[in-house]
Amino acid sequence: MEQPPRPKLFDFHGVSMTKYFTDNWDNVQNFKARPDDILIATYPKAGTTWVSHILDLLYFGQTSPERQTSIPIHERVPFLEINSPSLPTGTDLAEKLPTSPRLIKTHLPVQLVPKSFWEQNCRIVYVARNAKDTAVSYFHFGRMNMLQPEPGDWSSFLHGFMEGKMVFGPWYDHVTGWWEKKQTHSKLLYLFYEDLIKDTGREIDHLCSFLGLSPSAEERETVIGRVQFDSMKKNKMTNYSTVQIMDLKVSPFMRKGKVADWKNHFTVAQSEQFDEDYKKRMKHPMQQFRTEV
Ligand code: A3P
Repeated sequence: MEQPPRPKLFDFHGVSMTKYFTDNWDNVQNFKARPDDILIATYPKAGTTWVSHILDLLYFGQTSPERQTSIPIHERVPFLEINSPSLPTGTDLAEKLPTSPRLIKTHLPVQLVPKSFWEQNCRIVYVARNAKDTAVSYFHFGRMNMLQPEPGDWSSFLHGFMEGKMVFGPWYDHVTGWWEKKQTHSKLLYLFYEDLIKDTGREIDHLCSFLGLSPSAEERETVIGRVQFDSMKKNKMTNYSTVQIMDLKVSPFMRKGKVADWKNHFTVAQSEQFDEDYKKRMKHPMQQFRTEV
């Protein structure tokens, strides 16, 4: 299949975006959320697919096990704002979802989320990942995903990351904006990728208590087993091997799944410069990101 040309970034309501996330904007903004919809919100590369698979298994693993073996994760949990040349739009997929609740994914910064999610007081799970590992993961994602702008080399990509010239804008604003929203929207659970790595079972318990789910001990163990990195990497329904716009030979979607891979990418000078800039921008005392576990 001929690949679409790499998109260019442009300013969209103050956030860097590409046409693949803005061309369907009217339908995104007018999307009619339902009160039981669950929105999974993240900055790209924070563990969206991981949490999507966890929630899909928790809700539907027992009642519709065939879902997990026959429908790729991006169809089970549609990506609201996507409008890619080779796939149905995210809003179409979400509208056609037969499940209840509907699980819907977004990378939008909080201020761009369609208003019906707030009006309907939907539950939202936000997942955040430390900036350094996010930057590394996003860099490799840019190399393999034709819907992303050309990432360039690591050093120029990192520079762009620090400047917020990334699709969905600056990481710093994204994680902070959503954190602040949590103070007024009580139905928002803010999770960290690093906690999921450290103790997946405990974070699944947090999710269950937030969502009002009570899986049996056996179900819980089954979910934990099925969401391990190796298991999701092998699983065609979660490893994005069915998606043509990604070249898994360049870099697999399930790449490393670790905390602190940034140490294999940042030079000492890059790390120091990054930390210096980070301190100035991340003054919020509540946000405790860990770059190691
Ligand atoms: P790496 O590139 O660091 O390996 P998203 O789904 O938001 O795009 O995030 C993708 C990142 O989450 C990738 O990080 C991927 O490997 C990691 N990931 C996905 N599933 C995982 C799992 N079960 N355990 C740990 N990491 C996982």
